[in-house]
Amino acid sequence: MGKIERFSVSIENELLRAFDNYLRQARYQTRSEAIRDLIRAKIVEGEWQDPRAEVVGIITLVYDHHRRELTDKLTDLQHKFLREIISTTHIHLDHHNCLEVVIVRGLSSRVSKVANALISTGGVKHGRLITTTTGKALR
Ligand code: NI
Repeated sequence: MGKIERFSVSIENELLRAFDNYLRQARYQTRSEAIRDLIRAKIVEGEWQDPRAEVVGIITLVYDHHRRELTDKLTDLQHKFLREIISTTHIHLDHHNCLEVVIVRGLSSRVSKVANALISTGGVKHGRLITTTTGKALR
């Protein structure tokens, strides 16, 4: 971590009250820590806008494993994106439902492509892409 700098911010009273409510809900101890996290979130969001940026993502998929063709399709897709997929974990949630967590890394355009392909596969009940960072852009 670099040298700490202080700066002042001008903000409307109502917006500051709303921000303080958010801090309480999110259990932040100080405004500074909350502001630092918001800035980092924006930097990560910006990284993802650049198709050539190296990013990290976590794809979650919930589906019914009794749909045999679906399990095969998801596996085939994952073999197509060997370079991007770092790890896959499969959890049997109950008799019918499975959760698959796929950790991906690479160019944001490629990682988005993997996520879209998996999530849009017919039979996937719920899919999400969590967008995060390699950390290089954060100091
Ligand atoms: Ni399963």
